[in-house]
Amino acid sequence: MKSLPIHIGIIMDGNGRWASMRGEERSYGHIKGANSIDEILQACLFKGVPFLTLYAFSTENNKRPEQEVNALMDLSIEMVNTNIEKLMNNNVRIKVIGDFGKMKPEVVAKYQWCMEKTKNNNKLTLILAFNYSSRNEIVRATKNILLEYKNNIITENDIDERFISQHLDTKDFPDPDMIIRTGGELRLSNFLLWQASYSELYFTDVLWPDFKKENLFEAIDEYMNRDRRFGLVNCNTKKNEI
Ligand code: IPE
Ligand code: IPE
Ligand code: MG
Repeated sequence: MKSLPIHIGIIMDGNGRWASMRGEERSYGHIKGANSIDEILQACLFKGVPFLTLYAFSTENNKRPEQEVNALMDLSIEMVNTNIEKLMNNNVRIKVIGDFGKMKPEVVAKYQWCMEKTKNNNKLTLILAFNYSSRNEIVRATKNILLEYKNNIITENDIDERFISQHLDTKDFPDPDMIIRTGGELRLSNFLLWQASYSELYFTDVLWPDFKKENLFEAIDEYMNRDRRFGLVNCNTKKNEI
């Protein structure tokens, strides 16, 4: 029997278009997109998927009009406030990855509070990629590695793939088995570039506010029918058996 993905990453795209199609402001699309987050989280809990990473705001998104950036910051705080009780009841642990150094202090404080409060929950880890981009993460990791080298904590022989992984924001999580992108674009937009080296990619035209549990189950079914070879020839090989 083929196994469920342990870790699903989602590039939640299409909120702006969803709103524009209805003659609404883009930020209305972001508010509607927040409903999909709840639906997809519930669907992952139901299926027993233990890790879900949601790409919520990229470092590049900071270059959007100030009004939209502010609306997204406010929405992120509001979402934590409205959902914290449900997250606790559902035994969900929150982790946030991204460049905290350049995030608004009130957003950092809210996320830190939420991470602390949910730290002992263990049914599902919801990883929010906020003010995140993969290249930014790799630059920050490289600087930290250089510091360890300068302080004689490591030598060049310590550096291998595992070591690099251990210096990324995602060090505590397995690599994503599947990455879903909604909204029709066929790109990764700086999301988990290192970690996605063997992820199954799934693209759908469905805009994020329209993405429902049935769409997720369809993606999972397709994932379970794919042949993951990791460069080998045996179609039943699993990565952890290599
Ligand atoms: C994704 O939706 C959410 C964020 C990037 C914050 P978009 O805002 O990119 O929506 P489209 O792609 O313009 O429709
Ligand atoms: C990717 O969507 C980022 C998030 C979903 C948070 P974008 O809308 O920013 O990506 P591009 O600009 O279409 O590549
Ligand atoms: Mg977009």
